[in-house]
Amino acid sequence: MSQHKRQDILTRLRDAAPVIAPSMLKCDFGNLKREVERLERAGAAALQFDVMDGHFVPNLTYGPAVIERLRPHAEAVFDAHLMISDPAFYLDGFLEAGCDLITFHYEAVPEPGPLLGRIREAGRAAGLAINPGTPVESIEPYLEACDVVLVMSVEPGFGGQAFIPSALDKLRRLRDRVPRTTLLSIDGGIGPETIGPCARAGARIFAVGSAIFDANDYRRAIEQLRQLAEAIA
Ligand code: DX5
Repeated sequence: MSQHKRQDILTRLRDAAPVIAPSMLKCDFGNLKREVERLERAGAAALQFDVMDGHFVPNLTYGPAVIERLRPHAEAVFDAHLMISDPAFYLDGFLEAGCDLITFHYEAVPEPGPLLGRIREAGRAAGLAINPGTPVESIEPYLEACDVVLVMSVEPGFGGQAFIPSALDKLRRLRDRVPRTTLLSIDGGIGPETIGPCARAGARIFAVGSAIFDANDYRRAIEQLRQLAEAIA
């Protein structure tokens, strides 16, 4: 059962690619249920929940209890981006909350392999994220265990930062190393100017904050970004 669930999640992501995943950090936290419903109506196939603990990153957001209460209000793939220390300790909460893809940071664990395996064994897609300062070579031993590799193109913690161009070279190098079935994801400073180069470099999932939440029309913003990414594919 669990591997069918995981395969179903991966099929949904691949079928929806290029995936524009609104990053739930600059959203209206006073109306989260409405935001989630509005984003799904606007065409978001996935929602990225930016979980921050104030320790791994200098910002605090929300935990599994919030995600769990949003789960019944959307069909979209729930992507939990764990910018937290000791993600293994908190994993069960995010599994029980209904997250489909769980991405943790290479920099937050001594050894990513076991946690990647736990996520897959639970029937979810396993993601590994690397910060701008972490070389691709650091995660090469673990690529076979990743369903998604998330390249950060900003320092994690806040929305609205400038895109770090060195992320493009990391995408290109990962594209030539990851298993054919692994999806590359990019997060930080993604907008009309940067999404095309990221798609060209191999990204298939795009976490987007400001370029959606600073726009009045979410559907128009998401559609424009998808078209820019598709034009490259
Ligand atoms: C930063 C978050 C990003 C951020 C993206 O730690 O992981 O997802 O919210 O926001 P923008 O798109 O504005 O850079």
